[in-house]
Amino acid sequence: MGLFIVFEGVDGSGKTQQSRLLSDHLKRKGYKVLLTKEPGGDDSISYMIRLILLNPDHKNKIATKTELMLFEADRAQHIDRTIMPALRNDEIVISDRFDAATYAYQVYARNVCSAEEFFHLNEFVTNALSPDFTFWLDLDPTIGLKRNANAGKKDRFELEGIEFHRNVREGYIEYFQNIPEEKYAKITTNRPIKKIHEEILQILDKKFKI
Ligand code: TYD
Repeated sequence: MGLFIVFEGVDGSGKTQQSRLLSDHLKRKGYKVLLTKEPGGDDSISYMIRLILLNPDHKNKIATKTELMLFEADRAQHIDRTIMPALRNDEIVISDRFDAATYAYQVYARNVCSAEEFFHLNEFVTNALSPDFTFWLDLDPTIGLKRNANAGKKDRFELEGIEFHRNVREGYIEYFQNIPEEKYAKITTNRPIKKIHEEILQILDKKFKI
């Protein structure tokens, strides 16, 4: 089996950039790498779910339970069609978000269901697949939202107020309190991209010798 690495964090925390840098680095070293993301992975059905979830016109129209279920449906599809085949093929899978995001955004910030209900649902959806390692890119969401606005990004989640995004950050804090220390690293991201990338490489080298 390959290796499953996930990047998590609030909107605008630099996950996409860091996952790309890592993917390029590992490919240069000769590893087979699959760079993917949630929602919307590398699959046409996931992509259609993504369009429903992020469309700004759907603000105030999607029931919160529908939102939760669509993220989980996307994840089921992503695991079955993209992640598991790649892991079986000994690839390094790097996913820009996974189930911690559902905890932070839907369970904690939106309060759609209890943590217990979420863990049951998520275990069913993932067949208990969990990342080998997660990089949690932590950032003050005010900075993250500004970054995204400057980049012209305005999906349905970026239209949410700052209070929502502060809760998302709190949700991540609560989520990672229950994850074993050896399974994740909290990375401070309000500093140069290159420095963050180097720290990520050092951690992976130490943990997995890659
Ligand atoms: P996207 O543009 O793909 O990512 P990002 O903003 O991280 O660069 O947007 C995905 C949005 O979906 C993001 O605001 C977080 C949200 N999301 C959830 O609310 N729950 C989830 O389970 C996942 C995977 C994402």
